[in-house]
Amino acid sequence: MDFDWEALRAHAVEIAGRAYAPYSGYRVGAAALADDGRLLVGCNVENASYGVGLCAECGLVSQLSATGGGRLTHFVCVNGESQVIMPCGRCRQLLSEHGGPELLLMTPEGVRTMTEVLPQAFGPADLT
Ligand code: THU
Repeated sequence: MDFDWEALRAHAVEIAGRAYAPYSGYRVGAAALADDGRLLVGCNVENASYGVGLCAECGLVSQLSATGGGRLTHFVCVNGESQVIMPCGRCRQLLSEHGGPELLLMTPEGVRTMTEVLPQAFGPADLT
C-alpha cells in the first residue's frame, strides 16, 4: 500500500511552526489521519508552570474528539528542524488509546505499528 508519508510529515512540519515553546525552545508538530480520512494536527503548548505544558499529541487527540472521534490510522511527529521524532512515553499511551494496535507511526527507524512502539500496552480491555 502506497501511503504518502511525506505529505503527512509536511503537515506536521507546518504545525510545528505554530508551537508555543518559549521555555524549552523545542518545537514539536504532530499530524495524523483518522479512519474517515480526516487530518488532525497538534503542536506543543508550554506554560510558565512548566509541568502543565501540553505535548503536540495532546492537541491532536483533542482535535480528533472535537471533530467527531474515530480511530487514528497514520501518525507522525517532528521537531523544529523537521526531523521525525518518537512520541514520548505518555503520548504513546494517548496514541494507543485512540489508534489501537494497528496505528502506523513514522519513526526515525521507519514505519512501525503501535504495538511495536508500545508493546504490551495497558488499554481499555484491561478495565473490563
Ligand atoms: N514534546 C511533545 O510535544 N511531544 C513529544 O512526544 C515529546 C515532547 C514537547 C514537550 C515539551 O514542550 C518539549 O517537547 C520538550 O520536551
